Amino acid sequence: MTDNVIVTRDGAVQIVRMNRPEKKNALTRAMYEAMAKALRDGDADPAIRCHLFLGQPGAFSAGNDMADFIALASGNLSGDDVFDFLYALANSQKPIVSAADGIAVGIGATMHFHCDLTFVTPRTEFRTPFIDLGITPEAGSTLLAPVLMGRQQAFAMLALGEGFSAERALAAGLIYRIVGEDELEAAALAAAENIAAKPPEALKIARDLILGPREALLARIREEGDHFMGRLKSDEARNAFMAFMSRKKA
Ligand code: COA
Repeated sequence: MTDNVIVTRDGAVQIVRMNRPEKKNALTRAMYEAMAKALRDGDADPAIRCHLFLGQPGAFSAGNDMADFIALASGNLSGDDVFDFLYALANSQKPIVSAADGIAVGIGATMHFHCDLTFVTPRTEFRTPFIDLGITPEAGSTLLAPVLMGRQQAFAMLALGEGFSAERALAAGLIYRIVGEDELEAAALAAAENIAAKPPEALKIARDLILGPREALLARIREEGDHFMGRLKSDEARNAFMAFMSRKKA
């Protein structure tokens, strides 16, 4: 297990905090594994009624660890933990609240598409530079984003890699609310506690209906994953990853 993800409970709320501040919460295999396990354990435990995802001040997550991308591309690492996490997210049986402050890149942006309520601070920015990195969108985002935001905003975000400020994300329907940095975690926890206090059976039926059948979403995550794994090995991607890894030496 890793101490880069801290899982705690506050009453019926399970809190999953990404805890790798020195790397802006870039996600390692062990972190994906820990988050997938937390989601599954919480889903299976009747005492838990809501999941809450938190990051660090200034960094929700810088996305997948770049060194892991390189290891994946060279076949030295498996992507299983990533897909395990994505399927656990897409299959979640209980509501998910998230709170983001600052950087939310790659999977650190697209995971919010799977959340029921997302709180952010005014300085939060969602960035999905997939194409500029020579890779392709993931986490079911190519299916969920057009539904949430409309085709053109989805294209701007996922294909052009335009950053989405907190205000733009709110206008696009990507998030629930913008709150001050000092209020962020308390507001998100209060919302999770409110969810947890609702009659769970009725709430589950309502949420399942709102989400609709998940087969198409799971199939899209798989399809995107096949493209993604192929693109990782491309020259375009390799050059982009190496440029990031060596940028401070230049
Ligand atoms: N993978 C691995 N390490 C990462 C990382 C990532 N995705 N994102 C940031 N880090 C590391 C940096 O290398 C740096 O480590 P160091 O201090 O050992 O050199 C540390 O985290 C702090 O990052 P830094 O770049 O100095 O902070 P910043 O505030 O100037 O910029 C980002 C933050 C997130 C904008 C920038 O780090 C970035 O663009 N990261 C890559 C994001 C990305 O493309 N993710 C993949 C999306 S698919």
